[in-house]
Amino acid sequence: MKDRFLVSGGARLNGAVKVSGAKNSVLKLMAAALLAEGTTTLTNCPEILDVPLMQRVLEGLGCTVEIDGSTVRITTPADLKSDADFEAVRQFRASVCVLGPLTSRCGRAVVALPGGDAIGSRPLDMHQSGLERLGARTRIHHGAVVAEAEELRGAKIALDFPSVGATENILTAAVLAKGRTVLDNAAREPEITDLCDMLNSMGAQIEGAGTSTLTIDGVDELHPTEHEVIGDRIVAGTWAYAAAMTQGDITVSGIAPRNLHLPLEKLKVAGATVETYESGFRVRMGRRPDAVDYQTLPFPGFPTDLQPMAIGIASIADGMSVITENVFESRFRFVDEMLRLGADASVDGHHVVVRGIDQLSSTDVWSSDIRAGAGLVLAALVADDVTTVHDVHHIDRGYPHFVENLQRLGANIERATQ
Ligand code: UD1
Repeated sequence: MKDRFLVSGGARLNGAVKVSGAKNSVLKLMAAALLAEGTTTLTNCPEILDVPLMQRVLEGLGCTVEIDGSTVRITTPADLKSDADFEAVRQFRASVCVLGPLTSRCGRAVVALPGGDAIGSRPLDMHQSGLERLGARTRIHHGAVVAEAEELRGAKIALDFPSVGATENILTAAVLAKGRTVLDNAAREPEITDLCDMLNSMGAQIEGAGTSTLTIDGVDELHPTEHEVIGDRIVAGTWAYAAAMTQGDITVSGIAPRNLHLPLEKLKVAGATVETYESGFRVRMGRRPDAVDYQTLPFPGFPTDLQPMAIGIASIADGMSVITENVFESRFRFVDEMLRLGADASVDGHHVVVRGIDQLSSTDVWSSDIRAGAGLVLAALVADDVTTVHDVHHIDRGYPHFVENLQRLGANIERATQ
């Protein structure tokens, strides 16, 4: 857990890189395998630490999980344990996605609440009220969320905000409910579409994936399936911003470019040349980027998970940029680390004003979450000397083979293990 990265700035990144499956998809798809007795196979899974963590969560519920490179096989028994109040769950926020499947399969779910999060408080009120609309009773009890239902019944539900996690839990509960559920103001993220595609291939009846209204006709049971995880648009976006920041030339494959439309458009405005292909894109940058403003919003808006990369490029751009965070309230801890690298940035509420400087100045910095960690590595690539990025276990949770990929693109980076 004490690994750090030593990054020498100055190299222009050049070459090709393939992204694997999306972290934010695979974890939910693994949880969705709880909905059907038998063996579900997921391919194109990323080799990141979160996948074995989710394996432990599912094994704690009675499943057998086999990870074979990028293939994950989950065998779900007829009788699942409904109690997910154990250490693996507490360590790991995304495990809350077992709430929906357990409530619909077992009529009862106990899911430990994860500890604090570096990017802001993440309440579960919309998860709970959605399940309650479907007929469950929910409460927080001894640090766990408890849901109980004799029977789930379809309902009309409107979310206050298009929460990704609440949309997923409502979907995975509604697929086995009696009757029709209509979910308005649903999240439209590509990972939600991926989940809907997998659920439909298991026999669910969901319409409207990728739109704000999901219509779910409950079925009596689902069957196991084989499903390929969609490419990780956040990892792909990280490569795109790395190309632009280092004035390099990177071709990324394994991702539908429409899932990254706005981040790529922003790079064009900053002066990059962007070409898109059926399942990939190329970003080239031959000069210092121009300043561009960013606002994070639910999909198809600019992803909050790429906000550190937006601040990173703004910090060395020609001019002033305003970056506005609309999804998570305290996601600006990253800015403190950028200040250590000499960035000229100031936070005002949920805005950060960044005046671009010619070059960042290397020092020691600390990752506070997955994306902030990757953002610091990109910043280190354009700093004047050797930057030490600490707490890189965060980065390992979301970026498969990050150091090796960077080295192949020409970056001067190595992992140091204490
Ligand atoms: C998921 C992603 C995360 C991404 C985020 C937004 C995973 C594992 N994580 O997180 O990488 O940054 O979507 O795209 O997929 N909220 C409430 N009440 C609720 C639920 C959410 O107030 O019941 C608030 C949250 O505090 C946050 C906002 O809604 O401010 C968005 O959260 P949500 O979309 O649910 O994000 P996650 O699913 O947690």
